[in-house]
Amino acid sequence: GAAAGQVQHVFKGTFAHSTTAEPLQILDNTILGVDINGKIAFIEPGDQEEILCDKWGFSSSDVKSLQDKDFFIPGMVDTHIHAPQYTYAGIAQDYSLMKWLKVFTFPTELKYESKDFAKDVYTKLVKRTLKHGTTTACYFATIHTDSTLLLAEIVEKLGQRALVGKVCMDINDAVRSYREETEECIEETKRFIQEIINRKYTLVKPIVTPRFAPSCSTQLLNDLGDIAKENDLHIQSHISENKDELNIVKDMFPECGCYTEVYDKYNLLTSKTVMAHGCYLSNKELEIFCSKGSAVAHCPNSNISLCSGMLDVRNVLNHKVKIGLGTDVAGGYSTSMLDAVRKAIETSKILTIQKPGYETLSYKEAFQLATLGGSQALALEDTIGNFEVGKDFDAVLISPTTTDSSFDVFAGDTKKVIFEKFINLGDDRNVMEVYVAGKLVFPSMCFL
Ligand code: GUN
Ligand code: ZN
Repeated sequence: GAAAGQVQHVFKGTFAHSTTAEPLQILDNTILGVDINGKIAFIEPGDQEEILCDKWGFSSSDVKSLQDKDFFIPGMVDTHIHAPQYTYAGIAQDYSLMKWLKVFTFPTELKYESKDFAKDVYTKLVKRTLKHGTTTACYFATIHTDSTLLLAEIVEKLGQRALVGKVCMDINDAVRSYREETEECIEETKRFIQEIINRKYTLVKPIVTPRFAPSCSTQLLNDLGDIAKENDLHIQSHISENKDELNIVKDMFPECGCYTEVYDKYNLLTSKTVMAHGCYLSNKELEIFCSKGSAVAHCPNSNISLCSGMLDVRNVLNHKVKIGLGTDVAGGYSTSMLDAVRKAIETSKILTIQKPGYETLSYKEAFQLATLGGSQALALEDTIGNFEVGKDFDAVLISPTTTDSSFDVFAGDTKKVIFEKFINLGDDRNVMEVYVAGKLVFPSMCFL
Protein backbone atom coordinates (compact mmCIF):
# COMPACT_ATOMS: atom_id res chain seq x y z
CA GLY A 1 0.00 0.00 0.00
CA ALA A 2 1.19 3.50 -0.79
CA ALA A 3 1.43 6.29 1.74
CA ALA A 4 0.51 9.88 0.96
CA GLY A 5 3.00 12.24 -0.62
CA GLN A 6 4.99 9.60 -2.42
CA VAL A 7 4.62 11.03 -5.90
CA GLN A 8 6.63 13.96 -7.25
CA HIS A 9 4.86 14.27 -10.62
CA VAL A 10 1.50 13.26 -11.98
CA PHE A 11 0.97 13.74 -15.74
CA LYS A 12 -2.25 13.25 -17.61
CA GLY A 13 -2.46 12.99 -21.38
CA THR A 14 -0.93 10.94 -24.19
CA PHE A 15 2.04 8.57 -23.89
CA ALA A 16 3.59 6.91 -26.96
CA HIS A 17 6.00 4.04 -26.32
CA SER A 18 6.98 0.51 -27.29
CA THR A 19 6.38 -2.76 -25.53
CA THR A 20 8.07 -6.02 -26.45
CA ALA A 21 4.90 -7.07 -28.27
CA GLU A 22 3.99 -3.75 -29.88
CA PRO A 23 6.57 -1.41 -31.45
CA LEU A 24 4.13 1.49 -31.06
CA GLN A 25 1.53 1.73 -28.35
CA ILE A 26 -0.27 5.06 -27.97
CA LEU A 27 -1.88 5.49 -24.58
CA ASP A 28 -4.51 8.25 -24.74
CA ASN A 29 -6.10 9.95 -21.75
CA THR A 30 -3.66 8.22 -19.43
CA ILE A 31 -2.46 9.24 -16.00
CA LEU A 32 1.14 8.52 -14.97
CA GLY A 33 2.68 9.07 -11.55
CA VAL A 34 6.37 9.39 -10.75
CA ASP A 35 7.48 8.55 -7.21
CA ILE A 36 10.06 10.43 -5.17
CA ASN A 37 12.78 8.06 -6.40
CA GLY A 38 12.00 8.97 -10.00
CA LYS A 39 10.31 5.68 -10.77
CA ILE A 40 6.97 5.23 -12.49
CA ALA A 41 4.52 4.53 -9.67
CA PHE A 42 1.42 3.99 -11.77
CA ILE A 43 0.16 4.29 -15.31
CA GLU A 44 -3.58 4.00 -15.56
CA PRO A 45 -6.57 5.14 -17.63
CA GLY A 46 -7.38 8.81 -16.97
CA ASP A 47 -10.80 7.98 -15.51
CA GLN A 48 -9.00 6.43 -12.52
CA GLU A 49 -7.77 9.84 -11.38
CA GLU A 50 -9.90 10.07 -8.24
CA ILE A 51 -9.00 6.59 -7.03
CA LEU A 52 -5.31 7.30 -7.67
CA CYS A 53 -5.56 10.63 -5.83
CA ASP A 54 -6.82 8.79 -2.77
CA LYS A 55 -4.34 5.98 -3.04
CA TRP A 56 -1.26 8.14 -3.63
CA GLY A 57 -2.21 11.19 -1.63
CA PHE A 58 -2.18 13.88 -4.28
CA SER A 59 -4.95 16.25 -5.30
CA SER A 60 -6.28 16.95 -8.77
CA SER A 61 -4.51 20.34 -8.70
CA ASP A 62 -1.21 18.41 -8.59
CA VAL A 63 -2.02 16.76 -11.92
CA LYS A 64 -0.24 18.32 -14.89
CA SER A 65 -2.49 17.97 -17.92
CA LEU A 66 -0.65 17.93 -21.23
CA GLN A 67 -1.74 20.22 -24.05
CA ASP A 68 -4.18 18.50 -26.37
CA LYS A 69 -1.71 17.46 -29.11
CA ASP A 70 1.35 17.01 -26.87
CA PHE A 71 2.66 13.60 -25.87
CA PHE A 72 5.43 11.92 -23.94
CA ILE A 73 7.83 9.44 -25.48
CA PRO A 74 10.43 7.45 -23.53
CA GLY A 75 13.84 9.09 -23.47
CA MET A 76 15.91 7.97 -26.43
CA VAL A 77 18.96 5.75 -25.97
CA ASP A 78 22.08 6.49 -28.00
CA THR A 79 23.91 3.17 -27.84
CA HIS A 80 27.11 4.46 -29.48
CA ILE A 81 28.59 7.95 -29.48
CA HIS A 82 32.14 9.35 -29.38
CA ALA A 83 32.07 12.46 -27.19
CA PRO A 84 35.51 13.82 -28.26
CA GLN A 85 34.63 13.59 -31.95
CA TYR A 86 31.85 16.18 -31.61
CA THR A 87 34.24 18.98 -32.67
CA TYR A 88 34.28 17.68 -36.23
CA ALA A 89 30.70 16.44 -36.53
CA GLY A 90 29.46 17.75 -39.85
CA ILE A 91 32.82 17.82 -41.61
CA ALA A 92 35.33 15.27 -42.83
CA GLN A 93 32.90 12.82 -44.38
CA ASP A 94 34.76 11.97 -47.58
CA TYR A 95 37.21 9.42 -46.24
CA SER A 96 36.77 5.74 -45.59
CA LEU A 97 37.16 4.51 -42.03
CA MET A 98 40.88 3.81 -41.73
CA LYS A 99 41.96 7.03 -43.42
CA TRP A 100 39.38 9.03 -41.46
CA LEU A 101 40.71 7.63 -38.19
CA LYS A 102 44.24 8.64 -39.17
CA VAL A 103 43.49 12.11 -40.52
CA PHE A 104 40.70 13.33 -38.24
CA THR A 105 40.03 11.07 -35.31
CA PHE A 106 43.37 10.28 -33.74
CA PRO A 107 44.84 13.81 -34.01
CA THR A 108 41.63 15.25 -32.53
CA GLU A 109 41.39 12.75 -29.69
CA LEU A 110 45.00 13.57 -28.72
CA LYS A 111 43.83 17.05 -27.71
CA TYR A 112 41.85 15.67 -24.79
CA GLU A 113 44.97 15.41 -22.75
CA SER A 114 43.85 18.96 -21.88
CA LYS A 115 41.01 18.91 -19.40
CA ASP A 116 40.09 22.49 -20.31
CA PHE A 117 39.60 21.51 -23.93
CA ALA A 118 37.64 18.43 -22.85
CA LYS A 119 35.40 20.40 -20.51
CA ASP A 120 34.22 22.75 -23.23
CA VAL A 121 33.46 20.06 -25.82
CA TYR A 122 31.92 17.58 -23.41
CA THR A 123 29.64 20.18 -21.86
CA LYS A 124 28.41 21.28 -25.28
CA LEU A 125 27.82 17.72 -26.45
CA VAL A 126 25.93 16.52 -23.38
CA LYS A 127 23.68 19.59 -23.53
CA ARG A 128 23.13 19.09 -27.24
CA THR A 129 22.15 15.43 -26.92
CA LEU A 130 19.86 16.12 -23.94
CA LYS A 131 18.13 18.87 -25.88
CA HIS A 132 17.48 16.35 -28.66
CA GLY A 133 15.86 13.94 -26.19
CA THR A 134 18.74 11.52 -25.60
CA THR A 135 18.30 10.57 -21.97
CA THR A 136 20.83 7.73 -22.04
CA ALA A 137 24.10 7.63 -23.97
CA CYS A 138 26.85 5.06 -24.26
CA TYR A 139 30.00 7.13 -24.63
CA PHE A 140 33.48 6.49 -25.94
CA ALA A 141 35.84 9.16 -24.59
CA THR A 142 39.61 9.08 -25.30
CA ILE A 143 42.61 7.27 -23.82
CA HIS A 144 42.95 10.04 -21.21
CA THR A 145 41.65 8.92 -17.82
CA ASP A 146 41.27 12.35 -16.24
CA SER A 147 39.32 13.98 -19.04
CA THR A 148 37.17 10.84 -19.27
CA LEU A 149 36.42 11.21 -15.55
CA LEU A 150 35.50 14.79 -16.34
CA LEU A 151 33.04 13.58 -18.98
CA ALA A 152 31.43 11.36 -16.35
CA GLU A 153 31.20 14.33 -13.96
CA ILE A 154 29.62 16.57 -16.61
CA VAL A 155 27.09 13.91 -17.60
CA GLU A 156 26.05 13.33 -13.99
CA LYS A 157 25.82 17.06 -13.28
CA LEU A 158 23.70 17.79 -16.35
CA GLY A 159 21.47 14.85 -15.42
CA GLN A 160 21.93 12.48 -18.33
CA ARG A 161 22.16 8.72 -17.82
CA ALA A 162 25.28 7.20 -19.33
CA LEU A 163 27.84 4.50 -19.69
CA VAL A 164 31.24 6.19 -20.00
CA GLY A 165 34.32 4.47 -21.35
CA LYS A 166 38.00 5.34 -21.19
CA VAL A 167 39.27 4.22 -24.58
CA CYS A 168 41.87 1.43 -24.52
CA MET A 169 44.41 1.06 -27.31
CA ASP A 170 48.03 -0.04 -27.24
CA ILE A 171 48.51 -0.28 -31.01
CA ASN A 172 48.31 2.70 -33.35
CA ASP A 173 50.57 2.69 -36.38
CA ALA A 174 48.73 5.64 -37.94
CA VAL A 175 49.36 8.15 -35.13
CA ARG A 176 51.97 6.60 -32.89
CA SER A 177 51.65 9.12 -30.07
CA TYR A 178 47.98 8.27 -29.59
CA ARG A 179 48.14 5.02 -27.65
CA GLU A 180 49.28 3.73 -24.28
CA GLU A 181 51.66 1.01 -23.20
CA THR A 182 49.71 -2.14 -22.41
CA GLU A 183 50.51 -2.02 -18.71
CA GLU A 184 49.62 1.66 -18.40
CA CYS A 185 46.36 1.14 -20.25
CA ILE A 186 45.34 -1.62 -17.86
CA GLU A 187 46.34 0.34 -14.76
CA GLU A 188 44.54 3.47 -15.98
CA THR A 189 41.43 1.46 -16.80
CA LYS A 190 41.42 0.10 -13.25
CA ARG A 191 41.91 3.61 -11.86
CA PHE A 192 39.07 4.91 -14.01
CA ILE A 193 36.67 2.21 -12.86
CA GLN A 194 37.61 2.56 -9.20
CA GLU A 195 37.19 6.33 -9.30
CA ILE A 196 33.74 6.09 -10.90
CA ILE A 197 32.71 3.52 -8.29
CA ASN A 198 34.03 5.75 -5.46
CA ARG A 199 32.02 8.70 -6.69
CA LYS A 200 28.74 6.78 -6.20
CA TYR A 201 27.06 8.37 -9.17
CA THR A 202 23.39 7.64 -9.62
CA LEU A 203 23.30 7.94 -13.41
CA VAL A 204 26.79 7.11 -14.69
CA LYS A 205 28.41 3.70 -14.92
CA PRO A 206 31.83 2.79 -16.31
CA ILE A 207 32.12 0.66 -19.45
CA VAL A 208 35.20 -1.33 -20.50
CA THR A 209 36.21 0.05 -23.89
CA PRO A 210 38.76 -1.64 -26.14
CA ARG A 211 38.65 0.65 -29.20
CA PHE A 212 38.51 -2.26 -31.65
CA ALA A 213 40.58 -5.36 -32.31
CA PRO A 214 43.05 -3.64 -34.69
CA SER A 215 44.17 -1.26 -31.95
CA CYS A 216 44.55 -3.85 -29.18
CA SER A 217 47.23 -6.42 -28.39
CA THR A 218 46.04 -9.85 -27.32
CA GLN A 219 47.38 -9.08 -23.84
CA LEU A 220 45.23 -5.96 -23.65
CA LEU A 221 42.10 -7.74 -24.91
CA ASN A 222 42.72 -10.54 -22.43
CA ASP A 223 43.19 -8.24 -19.44
CA LEU A 224 40.17 -6.11 -20.34
CA GLY A 225 38.05 -9.26 -20.50
CA ASP A 226 39.27 -10.15 -17.01
CA ILE A 227 38.57 -6.66 -15.64
CA ALA A 228 35.03 -6.69 -17.03
CA LYS A 229 34.40 -10.12 -15.55
CA GLU A 230 35.83 -9.34 -12.10
CA ASN A 231 33.70 -6.21 -11.77
CA ASP A 232 30.64 -7.38 -13.76
CA LEU A 233 30.99 -4.38 -16.07
CA HIS A 234 29.55 -3.38 -19.42
CA ILE A 235 31.81 -3.71 -22.48
CA GLN A 236 31.77 -1.80 -25.76
CA SER A 237 33.81 -1.85 -28.94
CA HIS A 238 33.49 -1.82 -32.73
CA ILE A 239 33.02 -4.86 -34.95
CA SER A 240 32.84 -5.57 -38.67
CA GLU A 241 32.22 -1.98 -39.73
CA ASN A 242 34.28 -1.79 -42.89
CA LYS A 243 35.91 -4.22 -45.34
CA ASP A 244 39.47 -2.91 -44.89
CA GLU A 245 39.06 -3.37 -41.15
CA LEU A 246 37.96 -6.98 -41.72
CA ASN A 247 41.15 -7.68 -43.67
CA ILE A 248 43.32 -6.16 -40.95
CA VAL A 249 41.62 -8.33 -38.33
CA LYS A 250 42.10 -11.44 -40.50
CA ASP A 251 45.83 -10.70 -40.74
CA MET A 252 46.24 -9.88 -37.07
CA PHE A 253 44.28 -12.83 -35.71
CA PRO A 254 44.81 -15.69 -38.21
CA GLU A 255 43.92 -18.24 -35.54
CA CYS A 256 40.36 -16.87 -35.29
CA GLY A 257 37.76 -18.01 -37.80
CA CYS A 258 35.91 -14.69 -37.76
CA TYR A 259 35.92 -11.23 -36.17
CA THR A 260 33.38 -12.27 -33.54
CA GLU A 261 35.66 -15.08 -32.44
CA VAL A 262 38.41 -12.56 -31.65
CA TYR A 263 36.30 -10.80 -29.02
CA ASP A 264 34.78 -14.03 -27.79
CA LYS A 265 38.20 -15.60 -27.29
CA TYR A 266 39.03 -12.85 -24.77
CA ASN A 267 35.66 -13.01 -22.97
CA LEU A 268 34.53 -9.69 -24.36
CA LEU A 269 31.15 -10.96 -25.57
CA THR A 270 28.79 -10.99 -22.61
CA SER A 271 25.16 -10.07 -21.95
CA LYS A 272 26.47 -6.58 -21.09
CA THR A 273 28.39 -6.11 -24.34
CA VAL A 274 27.42 -3.69 -27.08
CA MET A 275 29.34 -3.77 -30.36
CA ALA A 276 28.97 -0.95 -32.87
CA HIS A 277 28.16 -1.50 -36.56
CA GLY A 278 28.33 -5.21 -37.40
CA CYS A 279 27.63 -4.49 -41.09
CA TYR A 280 29.44 -7.62 -42.25
CA LEU A 281 28.58 -10.08 -39.49
CA SER A 282 27.72 -13.50 -40.90
CA ASN A 283 24.71 -15.48 -39.73
CA LYS A 284 27.08 -17.72 -37.81
CA GLU A 285 28.48 -14.68 -36.01
CA LEU A 286 24.95 -13.43 -35.25
CA GLU A 287 24.24 -16.82 -33.71
CA ILE A 288 27.24 -16.31 -31.41
CA PHE A 289 25.92 -12.84 -30.48
CA CYS A 290 22.52 -14.38 -29.73
CA SER A 291 23.94 -17.15 -27.57
CA LYS A 292 26.09 -14.68 -25.60
CA GLY A 293 23.29 -12.14 -25.22
CA SER A 294 25.56 -9.49 -26.77
CA ALA A 295 24.10 -6.52 -28.62
CA VAL A 296 24.64 -4.57 -31.82
CA ALA A 297 24.60 -0.75 -31.96
CA HIS A 298 23.33 0.12 -35.44
CA CYS A 299 24.80 3.45 -36.58
CA PRO A 300 23.27 4.10 -40.00
CA ASN A 301 24.40 7.72 -40.40
CA SER A 302 28.01 6.70 -39.84
CA ASN A 303 27.74 3.64 -42.06
CA ILE A 304 26.51 5.75 -44.96
CA SER A 305 28.71 8.80 -44.27
CA LEU A 306 31.93 6.77 -44.24
CA CYS A 307 30.62 4.43 -46.98
CA SER A 308 31.26 1.57 -44.58
CA GLY A 309 28.35 -0.70 -45.36
CA MET A 310 24.70 -1.32 -44.63
CA LEU A 311 23.55 -3.37 -41.68
CA ASP A 312 20.64 -5.69 -42.41
CA VAL A 313 18.60 -4.90 -39.30
CA ARG A 314 15.87 -7.37 -40.25
CA ASN A 315 18.40 -10.19 -40.30
CA VAL A 316 19.77 -9.14 -36.91
CA LEU A 317 16.23 -9.12 -35.48
CA ASN A 318 15.50 -12.51 -37.07
CA HIS A 319 18.55 -13.88 -35.25
CA LYS A 320 17.12 -12.56 -31.96
CA VAL A 321 20.18 -10.43 -31.34
CA LYS A 322 19.63 -7.38 -29.15
CA ILE A 323 19.90 -4.18 -31.20
CA GLY A 324 19.71 -0.45 -30.57
CA LEU A 325 20.58 2.67 -32.55
CA GLY A 326 23.62 4.90 -32.25
CA THR A 327 24.59 8.26 -33.71
CA ASP A 328 28.29 7.30 -33.77
CA VAL A 329 29.23 10.98 -33.63
CA ALA A 330 31.34 11.88 -35.57
CA GLY A 331 31.46 9.00 -38.05
CA GLY A 332 27.81 9.98 -38.08
CA TYR A 333 27.38 13.73 -38.40
CA SER A 334 24.19 14.12 -36.36
CA THR A 335 23.80 14.16 -32.57
CA SER A 336 20.08 13.45 -32.94
CA MET A 337 18.56 10.05 -32.34
CA LEU A 338 15.65 11.06 -34.58
CA ASP A 339 18.22 11.28 -37.36
CA ALA A 340 19.41 7.77 -36.46
CA VAL A 341 15.80 6.56 -36.62
CA ARG A 342 15.35 8.03 -40.11
CA LYS A 343 18.68 6.81 -41.41
CA ALA A 344 17.85 3.33 -40.13
CA ILE A 345 14.60 3.44 -42.09
CA GLU A 346 16.40 4.75 -45.20
CA THR A 347 19.07 2.07 -45.03
CA SER A 348 16.35 -0.53 -44.75
CA LYS A 349 14.58 0.99 -47.78
CA ILE A 350 17.79 0.80 -49.82
CA LEU A 351 18.03 -2.90 -48.91
CA THR A 352 14.40 -3.22 -50.03
CA ILE A 353 15.25 -1.68 -53.40
CA GLN A 354 18.10 -4.16 -53.73
CA LYS A 355 16.16 -7.21 -52.57
CA PRO A 356 12.54 -7.35 -53.69
CA GLY A 357 10.38 -8.94 -51.00
CA TYR A 358 12.59 -7.59 -48.21
CA GLU A 359 10.63 -6.65 -45.13
CA THR A 360 11.38 -2.94 -44.65
CA LEU A 361 11.85 -1.60 -41.14
CA SER A 362 8.72 0.35 -40.20
CA TYR A 363 8.84 3.74 -38.48
CA LYS A 364 7.33 2.03 -35.44
CA GLU A 365 10.11 -0.54 -35.31
CA ALA A 366 12.76 2.15 -35.77
CA PHE A 367 11.23 4.07 -32.84
CA GLN A 368 11.32 0.87 -30.81
CA LEU A 369 15.03 0.46 -31.60
CA ALA A 370 15.70 4.03 -30.40
CA THR A 371 13.99 3.44 -27.07
CA LEU A 372 13.23 -0.07 -25.78
CA GLY A 373 15.76 -1.70 -28.14
CA GLY A 374 18.49 0.63 -26.94
CA SER A 375 17.71 -0.16 -23.32
CA GLN A 376 18.00 -3.88 -24.10
CA ALA A 377 21.23 -3.35 -26.03
CA LEU A 378 22.72 -1.66 -22.97
CA ALA A 379 21.25 -4.29 -20.59
CA LEU A 380 19.28 -1.51 -18.90
CA GLU A 381 15.80 -2.73 -19.85
CA ASP A 382 14.84 -3.32 -16.22
CA THR A 383 15.40 0.40 -15.54
CA ILE A 384 14.53 2.29 -18.72
CA GLY A 385 13.17 1.95 -22.28
CA ASN A 386 9.41 2.42 -21.93
CA PHE A 387 6.61 3.43 -19.60
CA GLU A 388 6.20 0.54 -17.21
CA VAL A 389 5.56 0.66 -13.49
CA GLY A 390 8.84 0.32 -11.61
CA LYS A 391 11.04 1.72 -14.39
CA ASP A 392 12.67 5.11 -14.04
CA PHE A 393 10.76 7.99 -15.62
CA ASP A 394 13.12 8.92 -18.48
CA ALA A 395 10.89 10.81 -20.85
CA VAL A 396 10.63 13.52 -23.48
CA LEU A 397 7.63 15.82 -23.80
CA ILE A 398 6.92 16.48 -27.47
CA SER A 399 4.82 19.34 -28.76
CA PRO A 400 3.81 19.14 -32.43
CA THR A 401 2.09 22.53 -32.23
CA THR A 402 4.73 24.71 -30.61
CA THR A 403 5.09 28.02 -32.51
CA ASP A 404 8.33 27.00 -34.19
CA SER A 405 7.35 23.35 -34.75
CA SER A 406 9.24 21.74 -37.61
CA PHE A 407 6.01 20.39 -39.12
CA ASP A 408 2.31 21.15 -39.30
CA VAL A 409 -0.75 19.45 -37.94
CA PHE A 410 -4.00 19.54 -39.87
CA ALA A 411 -7.65 19.03 -38.97
CA GLY A 412 -8.34 15.33 -38.83
CA ASP A 413 -4.74 14.28 -38.08
CA THR A 414 -5.01 11.46 -35.58
CA LYS A 415 -2.58 10.92 -32.69
CA LYS A 416 -0.97 8.16 -34.74
CA VAL A 417 -0.58 10.41 -37.79
CA ILE A 418 0.93 13.16 -35.66
CA PHE A 419 3.32 10.69 -34.09
CA GLU A 420 4.45 9.43 -37.51
CA LYS A 421 4.99 13.01 -38.70
CA PHE A 422 7.08 13.65 -35.61
CA ILE A 423 9.25 10.62 -36.32
CA ASN A 424 9.85 11.73 -39.91
CA LEU A 425 9.83 15.53 -39.54
CA GLY A 426 10.31 16.37 -35.88
CA ASP A 427 13.41 17.85 -34.30
CA ASP A 428 14.60 19.50 -31.10
CA ARG A 429 12.19 22.41 -31.62
CA ASN A 430 9.43 19.98 -30.67
CA VAL A 431 11.22 18.91 -27.48
CA MET A 432 9.59 20.83 -24.64
CA GLU A 433 10.89 18.97 -21.59
CA VAL A 434 13.30 16.15 -20.87
CA TYR A 435 13.19 14.06 -17.68
CA VAL A 436 15.77 11.59 -16.41
CA ALA A 437 14.88 9.48 -13.36
CA GLY A 438 11.95 11.80 -12.71
CA LYS A 439 14.05 14.95 -12.71
CA LEU A 440 13.52 17.74 -15.21
CA VAL A 441 16.92 18.10 -16.91
CA PHE A 442 15.84 20.23 -19.87
CA PRO A 443 15.06 23.06 -19.77
CA SER A 444 17.09 23.80 -16.67
CA MET A 445 19.41 26.42 -15.23
CA CYS A 446 22.35 24.58 -16.81
CA PHE A 447 21.08 25.55 -20.25
CA LEU A 448 21.03 29.31 -19.60
N1 GUN B 1 36.66 1.98 -35.25
C1 GUN B 1 37.64 2.24 -34.38
N2 GUN B 1 37.56 3.49 -33.89
C2 GUN B 1 36.48 4.05 -34.47
C3 GUN B 1 35.87 5.33 -34.36
O1 GUN B 1 36.31 6.22 -33.63
N3 GUN B 1 34.77 5.52 -35.12
C4 GUN B 1 34.26 4.56 -35.94
N4 GUN B 1 33.16 4.83 -36.64
N5 GUN B 1 34.81 3.36 -36.06
C5 GUN B 1 35.92 3.10 -35.34
ZN1 ZN C 1 32.22 4.38 -33.16
